[in-house]
Amino acid sequence: MRVLGVFRLALGLSALVAACAAAAQPSLVAADLRPHESLDGAWNWSVDPYRDGLAGFHGDAPDLRMRRSGDVIQAEVMAKDPRALYEFDMQRSPVTSLPGSWIGHAAEMRYYQGLVWYQRSFAAQLPKPGTRIFLRFGAADYSADVYLNGKQVGRHSGGFTPFAFDVTKLLRAGRNQITVGVDSARTVDDVPPPVTDWETYGGITRSVTLLAVPETYVDDAWVRLTRDGQIAVTVRLDGPSAANSAVRVAIPALGFTITGTTDGQGRLETRYAAPARLQRWSPDSPRLYDVEVAAGADRLTDRIGFRTIEARGSQLLLNGKPIFLRGISMHEEELGKDPVRAMTPAAARALLTEIKDGLHGNFVRLAHYPHNEVTTRMADEMGLIVWSEIPVYWRVNWSNPATLASARAMLRENIVRDRNRASIGLWSVANETPVNDARNAFLRTLIGDVRALDDSRLVTAALLSSRKDKVMTIDDPLVADLDVMAINTYNGWYSSDPLADVPSFEWRAPAGKPLIFSEFGADALAGYHDGVADPHKFSEEYQAEYYRQTLAMAAKVPFLAGLSPWLLKDFRSPRRQHPIFQQGWNRKGLISETGARKQAFSVLAEEYRRRSAQQR
Ligand code: GCU
Repeated sequence: MRVLGVFRLALGLSALVAACAAAAQPSLVAADLRPHESLDGAWNWSVDPYRDGLAGFHGDAPDLRMRRSGDVIQAEVMAKDPRALYEFDMQRSPVTSLPGSWIGHAAEMRYYQGLVWYQRSFAAQLPKPGTRIFLRFGAADYSADVYLNGKQVGRHSGGFTPFAFDVTKLLRAGRNQITVGVDSARTVDDVPPPVTDWETYGGITRSVTLLAVPETYVDDAWVRLTRDGQIAVTVRLDGPSAANSAVRVAIPALGFTITGTTDGQGRLETRYAAPARLQRWSPDSPRLYDVEVAAGADRLTDRIGFRTIEARGSQLLLNGKPIFLRGISMHEEELGKDPVRAMTPAAARALLTEIKDGLHGNFVRLAHYPHNEVTTRMADEMGLIVWSEIPVYWRVNWSNPATLASARAMLRENIVRDRNRASIGLWSVANETPVNDARNAFLRTLIGDVRALDDSRLVTAALLSSRKDKVMTIDDPLVADLDVMAINTYNGWYSSDPLADVPSFEWRAPAGKPLIFSEFGADALAGYHDGVADPHKFSEEYQAEYYRQTLAMAAKVPFLAGLSPWLLKDFRSPRRQHPIFQQGWNRKGLISETGARKQAFSVLAEEYRRRSAQQR
């Protein structure tokens, strides 16, 4: 018992450390809507494959000739002192435009994985008395060391969630110099581990901004419609006057206001009957309201939709009415032959329009990691229900407390960033993870975190099923902890089953839970046609027939509540190297990387048009 006790203590301590670290991280909810100065655009960049900028060759502190983060202009120092020595020069290194992965900086960066330094300068005034300045990154993949004017500001790990640092005391009047070391390398202890079926887009992949807020400001505000018809409000202030402060939450279009006073920790939880004329959000009517949160000198505005989502028996209910999720999966990768994961509003709209209008869809699985807030806001606006997930993917190191802490921090950052997004209906905690006791405990901890952070949404995970002959059984023990079962299934692609056999597969599952087929798919190279009766894999005809037969199988599953086939668009994957059909792309897209629709696109579109007509 003693040993177990010690282990539990270690687990607890590591979780405590992670929670403290996470808590120290400001949330800055709706930061993307706050007035801000953009630091996007021209940055210098310089590779550092052996990480000399972080440690000397005996592992000690890096010396001046290698330290990229120094508050110096190397050329000026060397011009004045003939004996000065730098083996880099950040200000005269090549220039690129951020955000966007370094894959796009130069051809030789295509498969570079490691450390890259970025630097830019910007002019600033000294912060006004009573204000705080935050430096915020939408995301950097995978870890980032941030320096301002030569001083380390902080470090963040995790490639897909925002992070920010209070730089009030480091800013100076005039020229300020920001240096960021981004390292894409991951170990088996990271989330995700090194092997995934998607490209690692190393670098600063989302916007960098400077935000000024009052010294006491609204760090978190979550406003939602509860299943019993109330507007619930959770607010957390940060700063010297956070405790016992008046807070007002208003929805002007409804003439609705909630007021309250924070407790000793700067928190307010309150709720009030929703106004009768509240128009609920739905894919058919994606109504968003301006919601204003006022506390002291701070005014925060977010755009929020109000709806409820729940599971009842094997059905999903949106605003109390059954809904079938007509969806598809999607990676965060813009259209085009050389994506750099620069997801602009126009790029997000182009992709989501293919789902909403092209496929008659109402659902999108944003796989396999938290996507850019640009995309979740676009889903709010266009009316698509979202499955949001963290990359607890394949072979995670279940027994490492630090790995669990990373996953918990990422989950928390994702949920706190996006729980005001009406489009998000499901939080997923895993994808295709092997079943064992350590994995079950790990995922149950994450499920508990989701329920603690957000009781208004559904919890799911993409699982695997077992097969005997033509009977597929969902027997993952995790199902009991989920609201919605989700299964990835590929009979007829990763098996030699004749496609004509696929509809005859039978599905068995624990009763009383909705099922989503969270993945099924087949590769096809756009434009490769095989007109024979029994078409070959990688042809458009094979992919189209695969969809016809798999959809016929799906139609027979009485507890099926949704589909998110794999996937909308061909995407980069270093694991896919067939020289004719793949060339470093996973070709399961219904559209090619440049947006060319394959034959299977219209097969799914017709299925969803039919289901949409049925649902009305
Ligand atoms: C898996 C996995 C995806 C992968 C897909 C495929 O189900 O979840 O990330 O891309 O299969 O093999 O194409």
